[in-house]
Amino acid sequence: MIQVAVLGYGTVGSGVVEVIEKNKAEINKKSGEALNIKYILDLRDFPGDPYENKVVHDVNVIMDDPEVKIICETMGGLKPAYDFTKRALMSGKSVCTSNKELVAAHGPELIRIAHENKCNYLFEASVGGGIPIIRPLNYSLTAEKIDAITGILNGTTNYILSKMEKEGADFAEVLKEAQEKGYAERNPEADVEGYDACRKIAILSSLMCGKNVKYEDIYTEGITKITATDFVYAHAMGKTIKLLAQSKEADGKFYAMVAPFLIGRDHPLYMVNDVFNAVCVHGNMLGDSMYYGKGAGKLPTASAVVSDVVDCARHLGKVIMCFWDDTDVALTGIEEAKRSFFVRVSGDKEKEAIAAFERVRVVEADVPGEFAFVTDVMTEKEFNEKAEKIGIISRIRIEE
Ligand code: HSE
Repeated sequence: MIQVAVLGYGTVGSGVVEVIEKNKAEINKKSGEALNIKYILDLRDFPGDPYENKVVHDVNVIMDDPEVKIICETMGGLKPAYDFTKRALMSGKSVCTSNKELVAAHGPELIRIAHENKCNYLFEASVGGGIPIIRPLNYSLTAEKIDAITGILNGTTNYILSKMEKEGADFAEVLKEAQEKGYAERNPEADVEGYDACRKIAILSSLMCGKNVKYEDIYTEGITKITATDFVYAHAMGKTIKLLAQSKEADGKFYAMVAPFLIGRDHPLYMVNDVFNAVCVHGNMLGDSMYYGKGAGKLPTASAVVSDVVDCARHLGKVIMCFWDDTDVALTGIEEAKRSFFVRVSGDKEKEAIAAFERVRVVEADVPGEFAFVTDVMTEKEFNEKAEKIGIISRIRIEE
């Protein structure tokens, strides 16, 4: 029997216990040996919970127990998760986590420590919730040179944008409703400002190039400035607005960014709505492949953590290869990236805007007092210079 401990009995931690219990027969068969949850670490007590007798408050009980071979870290945040993870790995206990903050901040170091101690640090649940995306990048697409990843990596913002589109509502209104229903966190900053998606694309980008893409270097813009009027224009163009996280490698340069984009009906991410996530991966032999599923939520995320537990159980004492070393990648600034832009200016600036941008495609949407258009393809730098000169209401990048 393989003894497992769960650190943090919150939404994901309790989901892990539920998945292991409900799918016991399947999971034990696939692990090659029965799994048993020996401890659950939490500061709180859980009177009446079927697992209350497994709850401990002192992490030393888990760390000092040589029977515990696999730990699920579902605490979130850097502290004390970083110290606990390091300590577990240094004593040869594998760690499976959903903690994208920790993976993005210390991934290569924790993978190295794991491998030095003949155990594993696995993080399938850190990106895309229940969608298998880490494993495809690590094991399935090993014959590929992956040169682009584009994804919808945040369930909360995708839910908000989908609702804004369907109901013609404004951002603040939908956010409030999402919070009331428990979809969005009470402090939604990490989601709506794009920080969560930024950490997730940092993890995927690092796996794409085998080196370390620092999340701090990724240009990140959230969805707080997107309005109901933007969706009126989007409809007029046959497009929708999605928060995309992207990384691309071209001519030896590496770009990564998170921002709202206008995408058309023919884009593979157009139909990804509500809390669903999806990731498009481009490889030089395979071409495009896409991974789709529930990007957030208790059981989908817990299922991904448990899939890592099964992998660890199958590889006790052996290292599962993961190419992510600690050499930092120098990202190319987005000023050089080329694309077209959708722009709104006040009606009295029509002539000025046409003079500045020259070839423009006018967007008719009957919004009073405004002139709206799509620019030619140009660099971000060139766009910013022109936009600054005339003074615009807003702009949204267009993803072709
Ligand atoms: N807050 C995250 C989201 C949870 O909305 O996608 C899953 O990482």
